[in-house]
Amino acid sequence: MAAASAVHARRRRRLVLPLLLLLLPVVRARVTALIVFGDSTVDAGNNNAVPTAVRSNFPPYGRDFPGGRATGRFSNGRVATDFYSEALGLGRGFVPAYLDPDYGIQDFAIGVCFASAGSGLDVATSRVFQVIPLWKQVEMFREYKARLAAHLGAAEAHAVVAGAVYAVSIGTNDFIENYFALTTTRLLEFTVPEYTEYLVGLARAFLAELYGLGARRIGFTGLAAMGCLPLERARARALARGGCDEAYNAAARGFNAALAAMVADLGAELPGADIRVAEVYDFFEGVVREPARHGFVRADVGCCGTGTYEMGYPCGAWAAAPGGTCPDADRYVFWDAVHPTERASRLVAEHLVNSTFGRFDN
Ligand SMILES: *[C@@H]1O[C@H](CO)[C@@H](O)[C@H](O)[C@H]1NC(C)=O
Repeated sequence: MAAASAVHARRRRRLVLPLLLLLLPVVRARVTALIVFGDSTVDAGNNNAVPTAVRSNFPPYGRDFPGGRATGRFSNGRVATDFYSEALGLGRGFVPAYLDPDYGIQDFAIGVCFASAGSGLDVATSRVFQVIPLWKQVEMFREYKARLAAHLGAAEAHAVVAGAVYAVSIGTNDFIENYFALTTTRLLEFTVPEYTEYLVGLARAFLAELYGLGARRIGFTGLAAMGCLPLERARARALARGGCDEAYNAAARGFNAALAAMVADLGAELPGADIRVAEVYDFFEGVVREPARHGFVRADVGCCGTGTYEMGYPCGAWAAAPGGTCPDADRYVFWDAVHPTERASRLVAEHLVNSTFGRFDN
């Protein structure tokens, strides 16, 4: 009898415990910082400190940024990660560049950007325009960790690194500035599926290294429909095809599928890791194909210059010309021939916060 009731009690406990867990309010671990790696989609001005032609720290860039400052962001205003910082409740709506002399370790303790415009997963991509390769971005992160430990003490610095959300946005340049652009020999060395596999292998090694350095909550943004960038549309038009370049779009989709499989596999291998793909392809393609649904007027050309090829210095050359830029960038999906306007970035950021960056719960 006693034995039977003990079994009953155990059964009850087994039932009660999961029920209690269900009833507990969801406790979200505080996000301590937002740490950014990648390319021009998220560079906050690191390239200003690098001798490269890929820069944007001059008008008309930044004209809608607070103070109208051209920070080196490839936008008329803020970029997606600036909006993540706001949404994650970090107390500011921007992420400073690690190489920006206006900021110090006390500023970087709640967020820092190591990204470099023109960079890629493939080190050959970063060499095309002499920008900061991804391995060097990781070196800067190591240095940051040491500076953070000196600033906050080892335990607190460890907590910041472990509690941070990591945003990675890279890979487009490997295709548009390297593989398809024939600036390197990659097209001769690899088919598109082989190059995709090569890139995703590099992404895997990078993520494993970040994990080894203490990162746990990582969002890797998938590639957008890069065949619909005004630059690629214009090239497709020149080849008399018109519309988006579907070969580029197919490469982006292939990369995203391989990335998702790798991330699922790697995440299962690393205890305590929460690595996710921030899926942007369908959402952004929807904006580009039906701009009016989202309050945009044009998605086929950028706001700057002719909108078909200018970015960086060629865009800057239009700054003073009458009609050199569109009067209201909010009506455009693209700011220059490659990069979204602040308003488009805000929309994409909202989508990615909803789906990924705002959902790191453990
Ligand atoms: C994100 O979620 C908010 C709140 O649910 C919603 O209002 C907004 O429309 C969503 N935005 C996007 C772009 O999905």
